[in-house]
Amino acid sequence: MDGNEYVDFHNGFGVMLVGHAHPTVVAAVQRQLSRGTHFAQPVAEDAVVAEELSRRFGQPQWRFTNSGTESTLDAVRIARGFTGRDRIVKIEASYHGHHDAVLVSVEPPAALMGPVKAPVSVPMCEGIPDSTVELTSVVPFNDLEALERVFASHPDVAAVILEPVMMNIGIVFPDPGYLDGVLELAHRQGALVIFDEVKTGVTIAPGGASQRFGVVPDLVCLAKAIGGGLPCGAVGGRADVMHTISDGRVAQLGTFNGNPLTMAASRATLCEVLTPSAYAHFDALAEELAGDLGAVIDKHRLPYHVVTAASRGCITYRSEPVRSYRDYLEIDASMAYLSWLYQSNRGVLMAPGARQAM
Ligand SMILES: Cc1ncc(COP(=O)(O)O)c(C=O)c1O
Repeated sequence: MDGNEYVDFHNGFGVMLVGHAHPTVVAAVQRQLSRGTHFAQPVAEDAVVAEELSRRFGQPQWRFTNSGTESTLDAVRIARGFTGRDRIVKIEASYHGHHDAVLVSVEPPAALMGPVKAPVSVPMCEGIPDSTVELTSVVPFNDLEALERVFASHPDVAAVILEPVMMNIGIVFPDPGYLDGVLELAHRQGALVIFDEVKTGVTIAPGGASQRFGVVPDLVCLAKAIGGGLPCGAVGGRADVMHTISDGRVAQLGTFNGNPLTMAASRATLCEVLTPSAYAHFDALAEELAGDLGAVIDKHRLPYHVVTAASRGCITYRSEPVRSYRDYLEIDASMAYLSWLYQSNRGVLMAPGARQAM
């Protein structure tokens, strides 16, 4: 509107991994546009995309949705149906979309979040029933003892849902062994593990965090970048867990699920654009950015550091790594906001606020 031009480092919250209007994706969508946009029937691309996701994430079965919210909503319901239990455990501060069960302790205010050994489940906004909040237990990231305590006091846990790499408080990596530990604890109690890979998905490795860390959960949620810029989502999982859908025990529904336009874009994105050389390119860019930004930080002796993971990256405005939300709360966010404003005024569009990674 104002005639300004920006280099886009926001990328639509990471959706536009392949860039805006990539010619291969545009051609695939245009081809499908002229053949029809919606049939509410399976299309051939559904199977091609599902097979490609299986290859990348090691999950044999997939269902499609239209957003990350729908993917985590379906995964929670599948886990509840499979286990016959109601409780879920989530990580303090994580965002998994806007359905009630997970809108709990999404960056809770410090005054309400309770002690670190017993975090309080805090609804994110009005309109979420207390009975739903009560069924969502909260633990800090990278804290297996906290998870053990929840399991000890709650025998009704259906699933632990987590972002295997947290991406809404900068980028927070799992400690070595943490993801394996979550799986081991959950399975010992008969609960499932859901990786929310909506952001990490095809961005930090071809098969996301599952592949990067070699840890295969029971269910994986995807969305964002897998659709090349169209509304999209997918849930993948173990055959016996996904069987709850095919045998009719759990409903997984949606008029636009697996619709032809999204599937055409997704097939082109996954099979033609996000090739091994694309990932080598992401790694090279990450190395260059981390090197140059790190050199500026070192030169000025700033107490900051750079975190990258293939196509994702951020600056963390403190010297030590952040391991969980409570570490992150210690950061003075004003420099991050100032950086965002400075970049905005100089033609670089960053994700809004201090929290988001590129
Ligand atoms: C980790 C994670 N899960 C789920 C979602 C929800 O996705 P959507 O906005 O497509 O519903 C988001 C959105 O930012 C997310 O970051």
